[in-house]
Amino acid sequence: MAKFFKYKTTADLEAENARLNLDLRFSDDLSPLSQPVTVGTRTVGNRWCIHPMEGCDGNLDGTPGELTFRRYQRFGGGGAKLIWGEACAVNDEGRANPRQIALNPRTRDEFAKLVEQTRQAHRDSLGDDSDLLFGLQLTHSGRYSVKPIIATHDPLLDPRTVVNKATGQKVTADYPIITDDELKRLVDDYVATAKLAVEVGFDFLDVKQCHRYLLNELLGARNRPGPYGGSFENRTRLAREIFTALKAVVPSNVLLATRMNGFDSIPYHKGDNDDGQPDPWTAPLANGWGMSESDPFTPDLAEPIRWVQEMRTLGVDLVNVALGNPYAQPHFGRPFEYPPPDGYESPEHPLTGVDRHFKCAEAVQRANPGLAIVGTGYSYLQEFFPQAGAANVRDGRITFVGVGRASLAQPDWVKQLQDNGKMDRKRVCRTFSYCTALMREKNHPLGQYPTGCPPFDKEAYGEIWKEVLELKVKK
Ligand SMILES: Cc1cc2nc3c(=O)[nH]c(=O)nc-3n(C[C@H](O)[C@H](O)[C@H](O)COP(=O)(O)O)c2cc1C
Ligand code: SF4
Repeated sequence: MAKFFKYKTTADLEAENARLNLDLRFSDDLSPLSQPVTVGTRTVGNRWCIHPMEGCDGNLDGTPGELTFRRYQRFGGGGAKLIWGEACAVNDEGRANPRQIALNPRTRDEFAKLVEQTRQAHRDSLGDDSDLLFGLQLTHSGRYSVKPIIATHDPLLDPRTVVNKATGQKVTADYPIITDDELKRLVDDYVATAKLAVEVGFDFLDVKQCHRYLLNELLGARNRPGPYGGSFENRTRLAREIFTALKAVVPSNVLLATRMNGFDSIPYHKGDNDDGQPDPWTAPLANGWGMSESDPFTPDLAEPIRWVQEMRTLGVDLVNVALGNPYAQPHFGRPFEYPPPDGYESPEHPLTGVDRHFKCAEAVQRANPGLAIVGTGYSYLQEFFPQAGAANVRDGRITFVGVGRASLAQPDWVKQLQDNGKMDRKRVCRTFSYCTALMREKNHPLGQYPTGCPPFDKEAYGEIWKEVLELKVKK
Protein backbone atom coordinates (compact mmCIF):
# COMPACT_ATOMS: atom_id res chain seq x y z
CA MET A 1 0.00 0.00 0.00
CA ALA A 2 1.37 3.34 -0.97
CA LYS A 3 2.58 5.61 1.77
CA PHE A 4 3.56 9.00 0.54
CA PHE A 5 3.34 11.27 3.54
CA LYS A 6 6.64 11.04 5.38
CA TYR A 7 7.30 14.68 6.00
CA LYS A 8 8.37 15.86 9.43
CA THR A 9 8.84 19.56 8.65
CA THR A 10 7.79 22.13 6.08
CA ALA A 11 11.39 21.98 4.83
CA ASP A 12 10.77 18.30 3.93
CA LEU A 13 7.63 19.33 2.08
CA GLU A 14 9.46 22.13 0.31
CA ALA A 15 12.11 19.66 -0.86
CA GLU A 16 9.38 17.30 -2.13
CA ASN A 17 7.68 20.21 -3.83
CA ALA A 18 10.89 20.98 -5.70
CA ARG A 19 11.41 17.31 -6.58
CA LEU A 20 7.88 16.99 -7.98
CA ASN A 21 8.12 20.39 -9.69
CA LEU A 22 5.00 21.74 -7.98
CA ASP A 23 4.08 25.18 -6.67
CA LEU A 24 3.25 24.44 -3.03
CA ARG A 25 4.23 27.24 -0.69
CA PHE A 26 4.59 27.36 3.08
CA SER A 27 4.95 30.18 5.57
CA ASP A 28 5.52 30.06 9.31
CA ASP A 29 3.99 33.50 9.59
CA LEU A 30 0.33 32.60 10.08
CA SER A 31 -0.81 36.21 10.57
CA PRO A 32 -2.45 36.53 7.11
CA LEU A 33 -4.98 33.93 8.31
CA SER A 34 -6.21 36.16 11.14
CA GLN A 35 -6.98 39.12 8.89
CA PRO A 36 -10.67 39.99 8.61
CA VAL A 37 -12.02 40.42 5.10
CA THR A 38 -15.08 42.03 3.54
CA VAL A 39 -17.32 39.74 1.53
CA GLY A 40 -20.19 41.55 -0.16
CA THR A 41 -22.08 43.36 2.59
CA ARG A 42 -20.43 41.33 5.40
CA THR A 43 -17.15 41.10 7.26
CA VAL A 44 -15.63 37.73 8.06
CA GLY A 45 -13.28 37.61 11.06
CA ASN A 46 -10.55 35.34 9.72
CA ARG A 47 -9.53 33.37 6.62
CA TRP A 48 -10.53 29.93 7.80
CA CYS A 49 -13.45 28.15 6.19
CA ILE A 50 -14.90 24.81 7.26
CA HIS A 51 -15.92 23.12 4.05
CA PRO A 52 -19.37 21.62 3.65
CA MET A 53 -19.08 18.18 5.27
CA GLU A 54 -22.17 16.03 5.15
CA GLY A 55 -22.55 13.78 8.19
CA CYS A 56 -25.33 11.63 6.69
CA ASP A 57 -26.83 11.81 10.15
CA GLY A 58 -30.11 13.61 9.61
CA ASN A 59 -33.45 12.04 10.48
CA LEU A 60 -35.58 10.47 7.79
CA ASP A 61 -37.80 13.56 7.70
CA GLY A 62 -34.77 15.75 6.83
CA THR A 63 -34.30 17.33 10.25
CA PRO A 64 -30.75 17.50 11.59
CA GLY A 65 -30.07 14.58 13.96
CA GLU A 66 -28.19 14.40 17.25
CA LEU A 67 -24.84 13.96 15.56
CA THR A 68 -25.61 16.83 13.17
CA PHE A 69 -26.16 19.18 16.11
CA ARG A 70 -23.00 17.89 17.78
CA ARG A 71 -20.93 18.44 14.63
CA TYR A 72 -22.02 22.03 14.16
CA GLN A 73 -21.53 22.85 17.82
CA ARG A 74 -17.96 21.63 17.45
CA PHE A 75 -17.53 23.58 14.21
CA GLY A 76 -19.10 26.65 15.82
CA GLY A 77 -16.74 26.54 18.77
CA GLY A 78 -13.71 25.75 16.65
CA GLY A 79 -12.73 29.27 15.62
CA ALA A 80 -13.19 29.28 11.84
CA LYS A 81 -15.22 32.35 10.87
CA LEU A 82 -16.69 30.92 7.70
CA ILE A 83 -18.72 27.76 8.26
CA TRP A 84 -19.99 26.35 5.00
CA GLY A 85 -22.99 24.22 6.00
CA GLU A 86 -23.31 20.88 4.28
CA ALA A 87 -25.40 19.65 1.37
CA CYS A 88 -29.08 20.25 2.11
CA ALA A 89 -31.66 19.02 -0.37
CA VAL A 90 -34.07 21.48 -1.98
CA ASN A 91 -36.63 18.72 -2.46
CA ASP A 92 -37.19 15.10 -1.47
CA GLU A 93 -36.28 13.61 -4.86
CA GLY A 94 -32.95 15.44 -4.81
CA ARG A 95 -31.66 13.82 -1.61
CA ALA A 96 -28.47 11.81 -2.01
CA ASN A 97 -29.31 9.48 0.85
CA PRO A 98 -32.24 8.99 3.23
CA ARG A 99 -30.37 10.84 5.99
CA GLN A 100 -29.38 13.91 4.02
CA ILE A 101 -30.75 17.01 5.70
CA ALA A 102 -33.58 18.78 3.90
CA LEU A 103 -34.97 22.22 4.74
CA ASN A 104 -38.71 22.63 4.28
CA PRO A 105 -41.61 24.00 6.33
CA ARG A 106 -41.73 20.80 8.42
CA THR A 107 -38.03 20.85 9.31
CA ARG A 108 -37.65 24.60 9.57
CA ASP A 109 -37.68 24.88 13.38
CA GLU A 110 -34.92 22.32 13.83
CA PHE A 111 -32.76 24.22 11.36
CA ALA A 112 -33.39 27.40 13.35
CA LYS A 113 -32.09 25.55 16.43
CA LEU A 114 -29.05 24.37 14.48
CA VAL A 115 -28.15 27.92 13.51
CA GLU A 116 -28.73 29.26 17.01
CA GLN A 117 -26.73 26.48 18.71
CA THR A 118 -23.85 26.86 16.26
CA ARG A 119 -23.69 30.60 16.87
CA GLN A 120 -24.01 30.07 20.64
CA ALA A 121 -21.09 27.64 20.57
CA HIS A 122 -19.08 30.26 18.71
CA ARG A 123 -19.97 32.96 21.24
CA ASP A 124 -19.14 30.64 24.16
CA SER A 125 -15.76 29.81 22.69
CA LEU A 126 -14.72 32.99 20.87
CA GLY A 127 -16.82 35.72 22.46
CA ASP A 128 -18.03 37.52 19.37
CA ASP A 129 -20.06 36.02 16.55
CA SER A 130 -20.77 39.22 14.63
CA ASP A 131 -17.99 38.30 12.18
CA LEU A 132 -19.03 34.64 11.82
CA LEU A 133 -20.76 33.61 8.61
CA PHE A 134 -22.67 30.33 8.63
CA GLY A 135 -24.09 29.31 5.27
CA LEU A 136 -26.02 26.42 3.79
CA GLN A 137 -25.33 24.40 0.67
CA LEU A 138 -28.53 24.05 -1.37
CA THR A 139 -28.33 20.93 -3.45
CA HIS A 140 -30.13 18.66 -5.83
CA SER A 141 -28.13 15.46 -6.11
CA GLY A 142 -29.23 14.68 -9.66
CA ARG A 143 -27.46 11.54 -10.85
CA TYR A 144 -26.56 10.74 -7.23
CA SER A 145 -30.06 11.11 -5.82
CA VAL A 146 -31.49 8.00 -4.16
CA LYS A 147 -33.32 7.42 -7.45
CA PRO A 148 -30.99 8.89 -10.09
CA ILE A 149 -32.23 11.98 -11.90
CA ILE A 150 -29.92 12.57 -14.81
CA ALA A 151 -29.50 15.83 -16.71
CA THR A 152 -27.91 14.10 -19.65
CA HIS A 153 -26.63 10.72 -20.76
CA ASP A 154 -22.99 10.35 -19.92
CA PRO A 155 -21.37 7.41 -21.67
CA LEU A 156 -18.78 7.12 -18.90
CA LEU A 157 -20.99 7.67 -15.85
CA ASP A 158 -24.23 5.96 -16.99
CA PRO A 159 -22.81 2.43 -16.70
CA ARG A 160 -21.78 3.26 -13.13
CA THR A 161 -25.04 4.87 -12.04
CA VAL A 162 -27.14 2.37 -10.09
CA VAL A 163 -30.89 2.66 -10.59
CA ASN A 164 -31.90 -0.36 -8.53
CA LYS A 165 -29.64 -1.44 -5.67
CA ALA A 166 -31.37 -4.82 -5.27
CA THR A 167 -30.88 -5.88 -8.89
CA GLY A 168 -27.77 -3.77 -9.61
CA GLN A 169 -29.51 -2.31 -12.66
CA LYS A 170 -27.66 0.70 -14.11
CA VAL A 171 -28.70 3.68 -16.21
CA THR A 172 -29.19 2.62 -19.83
CA ALA A 173 -29.72 4.58 -23.04
CA ASP A 174 -33.52 4.55 -22.62
CA TYR A 175 -33.41 6.00 -19.06
CA PRO A 176 -35.24 9.34 -19.17
CA ILE A 177 -33.41 12.61 -18.64
CA ILE A 178 -35.03 15.29 -16.51
CA THR A 179 -37.20 17.43 -18.81
CA ASP A 180 -36.82 21.16 -19.47
CA ASP A 181 -40.10 21.82 -17.64
CA GLU A 182 -38.99 19.83 -14.61
CA LEU A 183 -35.72 21.76 -14.54
CA LYS A 184 -37.55 25.05 -14.77
CA ARG A 185 -39.78 24.09 -11.86
CA LEU A 186 -36.73 23.44 -9.71
CA VAL A 187 -36.13 27.19 -9.56
CA ASP A 188 -39.18 27.37 -7.26
CA ASP A 189 -37.70 24.69 -4.99
CA TYR A 190 -34.45 26.63 -4.68
CA VAL A 191 -36.37 29.83 -3.94
CA ALA A 192 -38.61 28.18 -1.33
CA THR A 193 -35.63 26.58 0.42
CA ALA A 194 -33.62 29.81 0.26
CA LYS A 195 -36.44 31.79 1.84
CA LEU A 196 -36.57 29.34 4.75
CA ALA A 197 -32.77 29.41 5.06
CA VAL A 198 -32.91 33.18 5.37
CA GLU A 199 -35.71 32.95 7.95
CA VAL A 200 -33.77 30.55 10.15
CA GLY A 201 -30.70 32.77 10.08
CA PHE A 202 -28.16 31.43 7.58
CA ASP A 203 -25.74 34.12 6.38
CA PHE A 204 -25.08 32.81 2.89
CA LEU A 205 -26.66 30.42 0.43
CA ASP A 206 -24.57 28.17 -1.76
CA VAL A 207 -26.15 27.04 -4.99
CA LYS A 208 -24.10 23.86 -5.34
CA GLN A 209 -22.52 23.29 -8.75
CA CYS A 210 -19.85 20.75 -7.94
CA HIS A 211 -19.01 17.05 -7.65
CA ARG A 212 -21.22 16.15 -10.62
CA TYR A 213 -24.50 16.67 -8.82
CA LEU A 214 -27.35 18.08 -10.88
CA LEU A 215 -26.22 21.64 -11.60
CA ASN A 216 -22.64 20.51 -12.20
CA GLU A 217 -23.83 17.85 -14.62
CA LEU A 218 -25.75 20.56 -16.47
CA LEU A 219 -22.64 22.77 -16.67
CA GLY A 220 -20.94 20.03 -18.64
CA ALA A 221 -23.98 18.82 -20.59
CA ARG A 222 -22.67 19.53 -24.07
CA ASN A 223 -24.76 16.67 -25.45
CA ARG A 224 -28.10 17.70 -23.90
CA PRO A 225 -30.54 19.05 -26.49
CA GLY A 226 -32.73 22.10 -25.86
CA PRO A 227 -32.38 25.24 -23.76
CA TYR A 228 -30.40 23.62 -20.92
CA GLY A 229 -27.65 21.92 -22.90
CA GLY A 230 -25.12 22.46 -25.67
CA SER A 231 -23.79 26.02 -25.63
CA PHE A 232 -22.18 27.68 -22.63
CA GLU A 233 -25.20 29.94 -22.32
CA ASN A 234 -27.58 26.97 -22.22
CA ARG A 235 -25.49 24.87 -19.83
CA THR A 236 -25.36 27.73 -17.33
CA ARG A 237 -29.02 28.66 -17.86
CA LEU A 238 -30.62 26.88 -14.91
CA ALA A 239 -28.06 28.19 -12.41
CA ARG A 240 -28.50 31.67 -13.93
CA GLU A 241 -32.26 31.40 -13.48
CA ILE A 242 -31.80 30.26 -9.89
CA PHE A 243 -29.41 33.10 -8.97
CA THR A 244 -31.67 35.66 -10.63
CA ALA A 245 -34.67 34.36 -8.70
CA LEU A 246 -32.73 34.23 -5.42
CA LYS A 247 -31.40 37.75 -5.84
CA ALA A 248 -34.98 38.99 -6.00
CA VAL A 249 -35.99 37.40 -2.67
CA VAL A 250 -32.84 37.24 -0.55
CA PRO A 251 -32.08 40.32 1.58
CA SER A 252 -28.78 42.10 0.98
CA ASN A 253 -27.25 40.96 4.28
CA VAL A 254 -27.48 37.33 3.13
CA LEU A 255 -24.85 36.51 0.53
CA LEU A 256 -25.21 34.42 -2.59
CA ALA A 257 -22.47 31.85 -2.93
CA THR A 258 -21.59 28.82 -4.96
CA ARG A 259 -19.39 25.78 -4.70
CA MET A 260 -18.40 25.11 -8.27
CA ASN A 261 -16.23 22.48 -9.88
CA GLY A 262 -13.20 23.94 -11.59
CA PHE A 263 -12.74 20.68 -13.42
CA ASP A 264 -14.67 17.38 -13.71
CA SER A 265 -12.27 14.87 -15.33
CA ILE A 266 -13.50 11.32 -16.09
CA PRO A 267 -14.05 8.17 -13.99
CA TYR A 268 -11.19 5.99 -12.77
CA HIS A 269 -11.23 2.34 -11.73
CA LYS A 270 -8.93 0.05 -9.80
CA GLY A 271 -6.31 -1.21 -12.22
CA ASP A 272 -3.07 -3.17 -11.93
CA ASN A 273 -1.53 -3.02 -8.44
CA ASP A 274 -4.80 -1.47 -7.25
CA ASP A 275 -3.71 1.85 -8.75
CA GLY A 276 -6.38 4.09 -10.26
CA GLN A 277 -6.65 4.04 -14.03
CA PRO A 278 -8.91 6.16 -16.20
CA ASP A 279 -11.84 4.31 -17.74
CA PRO A 280 -11.43 3.80 -21.49
CA TRP A 281 -12.58 6.93 -23.30
CA THR A 282 -12.53 8.42 -26.77
CA ALA A 283 -12.36 12.00 -27.97
CA PRO A 284 -14.40 14.05 -28.38
CA LEU A 285 -15.89 13.50 -24.92
CA ALA A 286 -19.67 13.84 -24.86
CA ASN A 287 -19.64 16.22 -21.90
CA GLY A 288 -17.67 17.58 -18.98
CA TRP A 289 -16.90 20.93 -17.34
CA GLY A 290 -13.56 22.67 -17.04
CA MET A 291 -11.86 20.40 -19.52
CA SER A 292 -11.52 20.18 -23.27
CA GLU A 293 -13.24 17.48 -25.32
CA SER A 294 -9.89 15.90 -26.02
CA ASP A 295 -8.05 16.10 -22.67
CA PRO A 296 -9.95 15.10 -19.53
CA PHE A 297 -6.83 15.17 -17.36
CA THR A 298 -5.81 18.82 -17.60
CA PRO A 299 -8.06 21.54 -16.24
CA ASP A 300 -9.16 24.07 -18.85
CA LEU A 301 -10.55 26.89 -16.76
CA ALA A 302 -11.73 29.20 -19.56
CA GLU A 303 -15.43 28.38 -19.06
CA PRO A 304 -15.39 28.14 -15.26
CA ILE A 305 -13.68 31.56 -15.08
CA ARG A 306 -16.12 33.04 -17.57
CA TRP A 307 -19.00 31.65 -15.50
CA VAL A 308 -17.62 33.01 -12.22
CA GLN A 309 -17.27 36.43 -13.83
CA GLU A 310 -20.88 36.26 -14.96
CA MET A 311 -22.10 34.97 -11.58
CA ARG A 312 -20.55 38.07 -9.98
CA THR A 313 -22.88 40.19 -12.08
CA LEU A 314 -25.78 38.04 -10.85
CA GLY A 315 -24.90 38.89 -7.25
CA VAL A 316 -22.63 36.02 -6.22
CA ASP A 317 -20.06 37.22 -3.66
CA LEU A 318 -18.44 33.99 -2.50
CA VAL A 319 -17.09 31.08 -4.57
CA ASN A 320 -15.67 27.81 -3.30
CA VAL A 321 -13.64 25.97 -5.94
CA ALA A 322 -13.91 22.17 -5.91
CA LEU A 323 -12.71 19.44 -8.28
CA GLY A 324 -13.82 16.11 -9.60
CA ASN A 325 -16.43 13.57 -8.67
CA PRO A 326 -16.12 11.85 -5.27
CA TYR A 327 -17.69 8.64 -6.56
CA ALA A 328 -15.83 8.33 -9.85
CA GLN A 329 -12.36 9.71 -9.15
CA PRO A 330 -11.84 10.52 -5.47
CA HIS A 331 -8.14 11.37 -5.91
CA PHE A 332 -8.99 14.65 -7.66
CA GLY A 333 -11.33 15.97 -4.97
CA ARG A 334 -9.81 14.47 -1.83
CA PRO A 335 -6.11 13.68 -2.20
CA PHE A 336 -5.57 10.72 0.16
CA GLU A 337 -2.98 8.48 1.72
CA TYR A 338 -5.32 5.49 1.97
CA PRO A 339 -8.16 5.09 -0.53
CA PRO A 340 -11.86 4.86 0.27
CA PRO A 341 -13.31 1.31 -0.06
CA ASP A 342 -14.88 1.99 -3.46
CA GLY A 343 -11.70 3.69 -4.66
CA TYR A 344 -8.17 2.80 -5.73
CA GLU A 345 -4.62 3.65 -4.76
CA SER A 346 -3.72 7.18 -5.79
CA PRO A 347 -2.50 7.11 -9.39
CA GLU A 348 -0.43 10.24 -8.75
CA HIS A 349 1.51 11.63 -5.86
CA PRO A 350 -1.24 13.13 -3.67
CA LEU A 351 0.77 16.36 -3.46
CA THR A 352 0.18 16.70 -7.20
CA GLY A 353 -3.53 16.61 -6.41
CA VAL A 354 -3.11 19.27 -3.74
CA ASP A 355 -1.14 21.41 -6.18
CA ARG A 356 -3.89 21.02 -8.81
CA HIS A 357 -6.46 22.27 -6.29
CA PHE A 358 -4.29 25.25 -5.35
CA LYS A 359 -3.56 26.20 -8.98
CA CYS A 360 -7.21 25.98 -10.06
CA ALA A 361 -8.39 28.13 -7.16
CA GLU A 362 -5.55 30.58 -7.79
CA ALA A 363 -6.53 30.93 -11.45
CA VAL A 364 -10.13 31.72 -10.46
CA GLN A 365 -8.91 34.18 -7.81
CA ARG A 366 -6.45 35.96 -10.15
CA ALA A 367 -9.18 36.36 -12.78
CA ASN A 368 -11.48 37.82 -10.10
CA PRO A 369 -9.52 40.18 -7.89
CA GLY A 370 -11.61 41.27 -4.92
CA LEU A 371 -13.96 38.29 -5.11
CA ALA A 372 -13.89 35.98 -2.09
CA ILE A 373 -12.59 32.62 -3.27
CA VAL A 374 -12.32 29.56 -1.01
CA GLY A 375 -9.62 27.03 -1.86
CA THR A 376 -9.78 23.28 -1.32
CA GLY A 377 -7.29 20.43 -0.90
CA TYR A 378 -5.61 21.30 2.41
CA SER A 379 -6.30 18.24 4.57
CA TYR A 380 -3.73 16.08 2.80
CA LEU A 381 -1.03 18.37 4.19
CA GLN A 382 -1.78 17.11 7.71
CA GLU A 383 -0.31 19.40 10.42
CA PHE A 384 1.27 21.63 7.79
CA PHE A 385 -1.93 22.88 6.16
CA PRO A 386 -1.93 26.12 8.19
CA GLN A 387 1.50 27.02 6.77
CA ALA A 388 0.30 26.29 3.23
CA GLY A 389 -2.88 28.30 3.78
CA ALA A 390 -0.91 31.23 5.20
CA ALA A 391 1.40 31.32 2.17
CA ASN A 392 -1.52 31.09 -0.26
CA VAL A 393 -3.43 33.93 1.46
CA ARG A 394 -0.24 36.00 1.75
CA ASP A 395 0.45 35.61 -1.97
CA GLY A 396 -3.11 36.47 -3.01
CA ARG A 397 -3.67 32.98 -4.41
CA ILE A 398 -6.83 32.64 -2.37
CA THR A 399 -9.08 34.56 0.06
CA PHE A 400 -10.14 31.70 2.36
CA VAL A 401 -8.50 28.41 3.24
CA GLY A 402 -11.18 25.71 3.11
CA VAL A 403 -10.66 22.70 5.35
CA GLY A 404 -12.67 19.52 4.91
CA ARG A 405 -11.67 16.20 6.50
CA ALA A 406 -9.20 17.86 8.87
CA SER A 407 -12.09 19.69 10.48
CA LEU A 408 -13.82 16.39 11.27
CA ALA A 409 -10.63 15.17 12.93
CA GLN A 410 -9.91 18.41 14.80
CA PRO A 411 -12.77 20.89 14.56
CA ASP A 412 -11.03 23.31 16.93
CA TRP A 413 -7.75 23.63 15.04
CA VAL A 414 -8.12 27.43 14.81
CA LYS A 415 -8.49 27.64 18.60
CA GLN A 416 -5.52 25.31 18.99
CA LEU A 417 -3.42 27.58 16.78
CA GLN A 418 -4.59 30.66 18.65
CA ASP A 419 -4.13 29.22 22.14
CA ASN A 420 -1.09 26.98 21.68
CA GLY A 421 0.54 28.23 18.48
CA LYS A 422 0.13 24.80 16.90
CA MET A 423 -2.45 22.16 16.13
CA ASP A 424 -3.03 19.20 18.44
CA ARG A 425 -0.77 16.60 16.82
CA LYS A 426 -2.85 13.77 18.29
CA ARG A 427 -5.90 14.73 16.25
CA VAL A 428 -4.54 15.54 12.81
CA CYS A 429 -6.39 14.04 9.85
CA ARG A 430 -4.15 11.43 8.24
CA THR A 431 -6.42 11.02 5.19
CA PHE A 432 -7.25 7.41 6.06
CA SER A 433 -10.65 7.77 4.29
CA TYR A 434 -12.63 6.08 7.07
CA CYS A 435 -15.07 8.98 6.86
CA THR A 436 -15.70 8.31 3.17
CA ALA A 437 -16.01 4.58 3.96
CA LEU A 438 -18.79 5.32 6.48
CA MET A 439 -20.53 7.52 3.94
CA ARG A 440 -20.59 4.66 1.45
CA GLU A 441 -22.06 2.19 3.97
CA LYS A 442 -25.81 1.83 3.49
CA ASN A 443 -26.45 -1.36 5.48
CA HIS A 444 -28.12 0.50 8.37
CA PRO A 445 -31.74 0.41 9.58
CA LEU A 446 -32.16 3.98 8.30
CA GLY A 447 -30.50 3.13 4.98
CA GLN A 448 -27.34 5.09 5.68
CA TYR A 449 -24.53 5.09 8.26
CA PRO A 450 -23.59 8.42 9.78
CA THR A 451 -20.07 9.65 9.15
CA GLY A 452 -17.35 11.42 11.06
CA CYS A 453 -13.76 10.69 12.03
CA PRO A 454 -13.49 7.29 13.78
CA PRO A 455 -9.75 7.47 14.50
CA PHE A 456 -9.77 10.91 16.10
CA ASP A 457 -13.35 11.25 17.33
CA LYS A 458 -13.75 7.87 18.98
CA GLU A 459 -16.29 9.15 21.47
CA ALA A 460 -18.90 9.52 18.73
CA TYR A 461 -17.69 7.24 15.94
CA GLY A 462 -15.60 4.51 17.60
CA GLU A 463 -18.53 2.16 18.12
CA ILE A 464 -20.09 3.04 14.76
CA TRP A 465 -16.85 2.12 13.01
CA LYS A 466 -16.61 -1.17 14.93
CA GLU A 467 -20.14 -2.04 13.86
CA VAL A 468 -19.32 -1.37 10.21
CA LEU A 469 -16.17 -3.50 10.40
CA GLU A 470 -18.19 -6.34 11.95
CA LEU A 471 -20.72 -6.08 9.16
CA LYS A 472 -17.92 -6.39 6.63
CA VAL A 473 -16.53 -9.47 8.38
CA LYS A 474 -19.99 -11.08 8.34
CA LYS A 475 -20.32 -10.34 4.63
C1 LIG B 1 -17.50 12.84 4.93
C2 LIG B 1 -17.46 13.90 3.86
C3 LIG B 1 -18.60 14.63 3.60
C4 LIG B 1 -18.58 15.62 2.60
N1 LIG B 1 -19.71 16.36 2.36
C5 LIG B 1 -19.68 17.34 1.43
C6 LIG B 1 -20.82 18.16 1.20
O1 LIG B 1 -21.87 18.03 1.85
N2 LIG B 1 -20.73 19.11 0.23
C7 LIG B 1 -19.58 19.32 -0.50
O2 LIG B 1 -19.54 20.21 -1.35
N3 LIG B 1 -18.49 18.56 -0.27
C8 LIG B 1 -18.50 17.60 0.67
N4 LIG B 1 -17.37 16.89 0.93
C9 LIG B 1 -16.10 17.28 0.28
C10 LIG B 1 -15.33 18.25 1.20
O3 LIG B 1 -16.07 19.42 1.41
C11 LIG B 1 -13.96 18.61 0.63
O4 LIG B 1 -14.11 19.22 -0.63
C12 LIG B 1 -13.05 17.42 0.46
O5 LIG B 1 -13.04 16.62 1.61
C13 LIG B 1 -11.61 17.90 0.14
O6 LIG B 1 -11.12 18.75 1.15
P1 LIG B 1 -10.11 18.19 2.26
O7 LIG B 1 -8.92 17.71 1.51
O8 LIG B 1 -9.82 19.35 3.15
O9 LIG B 1 -10.81 17.10 2.96
C14 LIG B 1 -17.38 15.88 1.89
C15 LIG B 1 -16.25 15.12 2.16
C16 LIG B 1 -16.28 14.14 3.12
C17 LIG B 1 -15.01 13.37 3.41
S1 SF4 C 1 -11.59 9.38 9.01
FE1 SF4 C 1 -10.62 11.10 10.07
S2 SF4 C 1 -8.44 10.84 9.69
FE2 SF4 C 1 -9.53 9.61 8.21
S3 SF4 C 1 -9.74 10.90 6.40
FE3 SF4 C 1 -11.60 11.10 7.59
S4 SF4 C 1 -11.25 12.86 8.89
FE4 SF4 C 1 -9.26 12.22 8.15
